[in-house]
Amino acid sequence: MAGEKILAFAGSTRTESFNKKLIKIAVAGARNAGADVRLIDLRDPPLPLYDGDLEEREGLPDNAKKLKGLFLAHDGLLLSCPEYNSGITGVWKNTIDWVSRSESDDEEDLACYIGKVAALMSASPGFLGGLRGLVQVRSILGNIKVLVLPDQVTVSKAHEAFNLDGSLKDAKKQVAVEKLGSTLAATIAKLRA
Ligand SMILES: Cc1cc2nc3c(=O)[nH]c(=O)nc-3n(C[C@H](O)[C@H](O)[C@H](O)COP(=O)(O)O)c2cc1C
Repeated sequence: MAGEKILAFAGSTRTESFNKKLIKIAVAGARNAGADVRLIDLRDPPLPLYDGDLEEREGLPDNAKKLKGLFLAHDGLLLSCPEYNSGITGVWKNTIDWVSRSESDDEEDLACYIGKVAALMSASPGFLGGLRGLVQVRSILGNIKVLVLPDQVTVSKAHEAFNLDGSLKDAKKQVAVEKLGSTLAATIAKLRA
């Protein structure tokens, strides 16, 4: 098991995002297991809001094309998704929507998603830790043919959950998040064997 290609990002653009902190722990877990992980920030490069008229007029924005390229080049998705009003965030869904768009009739529908494996986590200051958002994330990804691992981790009271060095105060949770990354790498390796 080595070199599994994983794309990682949080569904938040906020500089001090708890989900950006959380994803870094899972990324470290995947890298320690030998995976080749690319961690990106959805703020940079930015995407416009999906607009069918803009797409018809100008095609896919360059940044959406770049992101599609990244999705195509990776086998796994490591995602930390905040919960907004009991569901997904706009920035996460906007990303999923742009990346789902074909650039030509020759391109297979959902080419960027088919055959991918994903592992999910979330962090929220609330008691449920973003669990309700993950239910939607899991459903959406399943519908676009991503295989989503049953394991997932939620971190509640996220504003109190992290040490200054970015690790989680709850040692068991720290291990569980690292394991999410390593399990994703191991699953991709098994599927590729
Ligand atoms: C528009 C909005 C709606 C929110 N709704 C929820 C919610 O339904 N459940 C929840 O646990 N937190 C909710 N929150 C709080 C977020 O969990 C919190 O802002 C969190 O820090 C966002 O993730 P981030 O730190 O990764 O940016 C909401 C925040 C915003 C801005």
